[in-house]
Amino acid sequence: MEILKPDDASLMRAGALIASGGLVALPTETVYGLGADAFNTLAVARVFEAKARPSFDPLIVHISALSDIDRVVRKPSPLARALMEALWPGPLTLVLPKRDEMPDLVTSGLPTVAVRLPAHAVARAIIAWSGTAVAAPSANPFGYISPTTAEHVARMLGDRVDLIVDGGPCRVGVESTVLDMTVEPPCLLRPGGMDLGMIEAIIGPVSRKAPGPMREGEQPAGPGQLDSHYAPRTPLRLMARGDLAQARKPSARIGALLFEGLSLGASGGPSGFAATRVLSPSGDMVEAAASLFAMMHELDGLGLDEIWAERVPETGLGAAINDRLFKASRK
Ligand code: TXA
Ligand code: MG
Repeated sequence: MEILKPDDASLMRAGALIASGGLVALPTETVYGLGADAFNTLAVARVFEAKARPSFDPLIVHISALSDIDRVVRKPSPLARALMEALWPGPLTLVLPKRDEMPDLVTSGLPTVAVRLPAHAVARAIIAWSGTAVAAPSANPFGYISPTTAEHVARMLGDRVDLIVDGGPCRVGVESTVLDMTVEPPCLLRPGGMDLGMIEAIIGPVSRKAPGPMREGEQPAGPGQLDSHYAPRTPLRLMARGDLAQARKPSARIGALLFEGLSLGASGGPSGFAATRVLSPSGDMVEAAASLFAMMHELDGLGLDEIWAERVPETGLGAAINDRLFKASRK
């Protein structure tokens, strides 16, 4: 496995690698993706293998230009078109009827495909050089914390990828918002980097998939529906905001994951914790999202007995952050 900085030569090489069936880890504005040619089933199968991902979970297909949409989906509705034109490139994934050519392995046999046009210039250049559409889940082992740096990918997937392109830390830090456009009204399958308000301003009200445990044999419409996800190896306990600072001081080695500087309280922070991380000292939700997975990785690497995290306010990206924290707390 090689790690390269994104210059012209490495972007071309990454694209060529994908075109010839290789696996390339590439930076997007949300998280790092593990990319393969979406039309090459052998390459896509290697993605599932590298992630140890259950094959019932479908992948997102990435394109580099709006004009490529017809290679992936069948006739997007006017509402879907309106979203693409207003919010792409960006952290928004749309579920649409798939073209017959799209392999069942990518969509888990669903008649729909999830597609997105990422905002990261490096991702777009690699996809463009590949000359194809790129199926790319987050570049982490299934169920584990998502990667927001090239080092995260190298540590978690190492030799299971052919090349990692290092585009620095991801700007958004949580995965894209996933929206099912094949139902009326459109349905939010996963809260993420694109604010729901921006979406509803364009297409009107969106329904939310009711949370709750899945029934046996039921197909998850997204890992949003899987109970445990984005999880560190260290058990993570989720608390109401403010409760953490007040919590009875633990005797075990506990790490604290706080939202903002205010959570530290007048004493300058809850004492008795083996390690403390603050998502955003100033309480900025954008900064908090960008820090989330990196701080979870850090705390997970300290060999702690538990991680205690507090919920963040539900505003803006807060819904996506709380979703990830909740899933990380389920074992
Ligand atoms: O930000 C992101 O979306 C990142 C970067 C790499 O683009 N990718 C990502 O992929 O998070 P992944 O595989 O970790 O999550 C894909 C999500 C899952 O929730 C999956 O179930 C859902 O998209 N999905 C994919 N195809 C679908 C389909 N046809 N219908 C419903 N949900 C689908
Ligand atoms: Mg993922």
